[in-house]
Amino acid sequence: MMLLTNVLPSLAMEPEVSPFMLGKVVSGSLFVDREDIRKRLATNFRSGISTVLISPRRWGKSSLVRQVSIDMEKEKDVRFAWIDLFHVRTEEEFMERMSEAVIKALGRTMEERMADVKEFIRGVVPQIGFGVDPQSEFTLKFTWPPGKRNIKEILDLPERMAKAKKLRLVLCIDEFQNIAQLPDPLGFQKLLRASWQQQEHVCHAIYGSKRHMMVELFRKQSMPFYRFGEVIFLDKIPRADWTRFIQARFAFTKKSLPTGVAEGIAARMLDHSYHVQLLSHAAWMYTRKKCDQAVVDRALEDLLDQHGILYHRLVDELTTPQLNYLRALLNGVTRFTTTENIRRFDLGSSANVKRITAALEKKEVLDFVGEETEWIDPLFKIWLEERYWGSRLAMV
Ligand SMILES: Nc1ncnc2c1ncn2[C@@H]1O[C@H](COP(=O)(O)OP(=O)(O)OP(=O)(O)O)[C@@H](O)[C@H]1O
Ligand SMILES: [Mg+2]
Repeated sequence: MMLLTNVLPSLAMEPEVSPFMLGKVVSGSLFVDREDIRKRLATNFRSGISTVLISPRRWGKSSLVRQVSIDMEKEKDVRFAWIDLFHVRTEEEFMERMSEAVIKALGRTMEERMADVKEFIRGVVPQIGFGVDPQSEFTLKFTWPPGKRNIKEILDLPERMAKAKKLRLVLCIDEFQNIAQLPDPLGFQKLLRASWQQQEHVCHAIYGSKRHMMVELFRKQSMPFYRFGEVIFLDKIPRADWTRFIQARFAFTKKSLPTGVAEGIAARMLDHSYHVQLLSHAAWMYTRKKCDQAVVDRALEDLLDQHGILYHRLVDELTTPQLNYLRALLNGVTRFTTTENIRRFDLGSSANVKRITAALEKKEVLDFVGEETEWIDPLFKIWLEERYWGSRLAMV
């Protein structure tokens, strides 16, 4: 499902800067505490324990790992390398991105990186690319020799380099579930696992939002990454922390809002990180000095207006039984396979209910977390309730 970033109420704007942030990785003063998990991750990384972090989209995985790397900045012997598998389509690309990230993380200057490529990259012919800013932009492309492909040498690169430089490395891999889309997913996972479990100076922070796929990769006995590291399901940020944050951010720009109103923003957005920031930002835009409930309501109506076209399109992509399921959910149904509910909401059969939930998960409308059902986009939930069905919601 698409999420709109930078959807701002169209207002005559004063030259102000919002104290909220949408869609980008947040850290520092824009980051809401998550104290316990930060400590836990830092301890894991310090101890060399690989960690798998799973949550629905936009709850704050990337921001969390980034913040932990900042928390650990003072520990001079620990370095973080960053890979995003979002656009990676082949095993070769994976190894290029990984090598690139590792060379960047373990060498601070352009000269050091060039020397490292020469010294540590074996078995392939590397091509180096520098951007306008050679400190931040650095790319590698490998030419593989025909026949013999020195995959193992490359996979061991992080360990060889970290060991030689007497550093510890946390290799952070975002959208890890994409590993399952590579041409030889199982074979490659086996190679990775074999290499990674021998590494003493490297641990892995692995995160992704496709819960189903991540669970399959790490919790299924037959899979190479079974019992690879600690698997953590990231929680939402507690309401009280959001409340304090929203008030502090308003205060930062000399605006204010009562505790109850701040709490209401988080509650309305079901404490989803991105969406709490979205509504906070919209309410802040409408606030001159003091924000009240009426301002928040108006900001929410505005957001619903702006997302209308997108949500109509989304509804068009849902089948009638899928919509019926959502309607049942919004009517407070928790047991969908009872004869009565199947009949009342026209859900077909209990086998069909299974198919519906699988499809809604795949389309990123809902996520099923243990007993709980999570709306991936709380604004879409409100839109369905208030705009799409409105007062007809319960008339079934
Ligand atoms: N700890 C936090 N404090 C405040 N806002 C946060 C926090 N974590 C996330 N957010 C908000 O949520 C948005 C999404 O965060 P982030 O990109 O880290 O999530 P993600 O789980 O990695 O998302 P995706 O699944 O799309 O990769 C951020 O742009 C920010 O607005
Ligand atoms: Mg992310």
